[in-house]
Amino acid sequence: MNFNIAADRRCTNSIKWNRKAIENIASNPDAEPFWVADMDFLPEPHIHDAAKTLAGMGVYGYPSFPDDWKAVSSWLRAKHGWILPEEKIIFCQGLLHGLALALNLFTKEGDGILVPSPMYRPFREIPARNGRRLIEHDLGYSNGHFFLDRERFARDAENASMIVFCSPHNPSGIVFSEDDLRFVLETAKKKDIPIISDEIHSDLAHPEKKHIPMGLANERAGAKCITLFAPSKTFNIAGEHCAFAALSDTAMEDAFRKAESALWLDEPGITIGELAYAAYSKGMEYNKELCRYLGENVKAIREYLAASCPDMILSDCEASFVGFLDCSAYYDRIEAEVISHPDKYMGGDGGGVLSRFFGVNAAVAMNDGTWFGDSWKGFVRFNYGTSRERVMKALERIVKAVKSL
Ligand SMILES: Cc1ncc(COP(=O)(O)O)c(C=O)c1O
Repeated sequence: MNFNIAADRRCTNSIKWNRKAIENIASNPDAEPFWVADMDFLPEPHIHDAAKTLAGMGVYGYPSFPDDWKAVSSWLRAKHGWILPEEKIIFCQGLLHGLALALNLFTKEGDGILVPSPMYRPFREIPARNGRRLIEHDLGYSNGHFFLDRERFARDAENASMIVFCSPHNPSGIVFSEDDLRFVLETAKKKDIPIISDEIHSDLAHPEKKHIPMGLANERAGAKCITLFAPSKTFNIAGEHCAFAALSDTAMEDAFRKAESALWLDEPGITIGELAYAAYSKGMEYNKELCRYLGENVKAIREYLAASCPDMILSDCEASFVGFLDCSAYYDRIEAEVISHPDKYMGGDGGGVLSRFFGVNAAVAMNDGTWFGDSWKGFVRFNYGTSRERVMKALERIVKAVKSL
């Protein structure tokens, strides 16, 4: 694989490269996209072959995938050392579908849902759209390091009926330690509330880090644990909306299966079935190389910022391809600039002060920190899942923009 080649997807139906969507957050339709969490690398060859074979045969009728969850089970064992029999793996029509379904099944209207913040935006919207109350728990933060503040976490969990965790964490990129996972699980168990762990980024831990699935950590803890994972970020096939759920509690597993089947949501379509099977059964080499490349991107970003703009700090990106860039040292000056030139920084409701400033002055489109919670206006989320050349050029423009203030 050559990850130095990244596709230009401006002429496709990619939301990440959509000019209108970019203008909404960045006040500049021509800004280069470093926002939505998908990558620009060329596809893993076996997955691409599976797609081409399907298209070549022109067969799009109802599928039957008797062996596919065996491939998922083998992947979990090889990648994470988690022995999860295929019979325990439940297909979901995307990770957020699994999350919303579990939230609906295992909590009731008005219940409090504890979510660590900064949080991936739908974690706020799913409770709101389903009449639940969000308990926004700010992670501890100091100088680029996000961490679990256990005492505060336990206090915030007092009024919660469910915990929704994101591991590894989007947007910071941190990988939680086994101790942290155990603490979170014990907190849930003590209160006898379910915990959902969104692990969509779990296969992309960088070489020096090890992700531990919550479901595996829970084999000792014994909480009511719902682990959700997916091939979407791992293999850049997120547009196909495929995920899997594993529930530790048998009664909850039955309820989840029943709810899926009642709504006729328990079968994958033909394309995702073919792609996911190819990915899980033949994608390990690609995955290893990708994790290495992403880790090296982080190293290059860190070295560049340390040398040219030490006040701008990248979070501890230990997994996946997004990180939170702390620009708070420049926030006041950027805000003054944006407020004094309202015509220059117009846009939709998806952006904020920083995303507009960098969109206009660096031609770089990133998610504004406010998209992830009320406390994060001094941050932007930077997607470095593209060629190093493109990443470094964007960084140079970002640094130049703040230096020109
Ligand atoms: C943490 C997290 N969960 C869920 C999703 C979306 O998953 P899906 O498209 O499978 O619903 C994303 C996508 O960026 C994500 O980052």
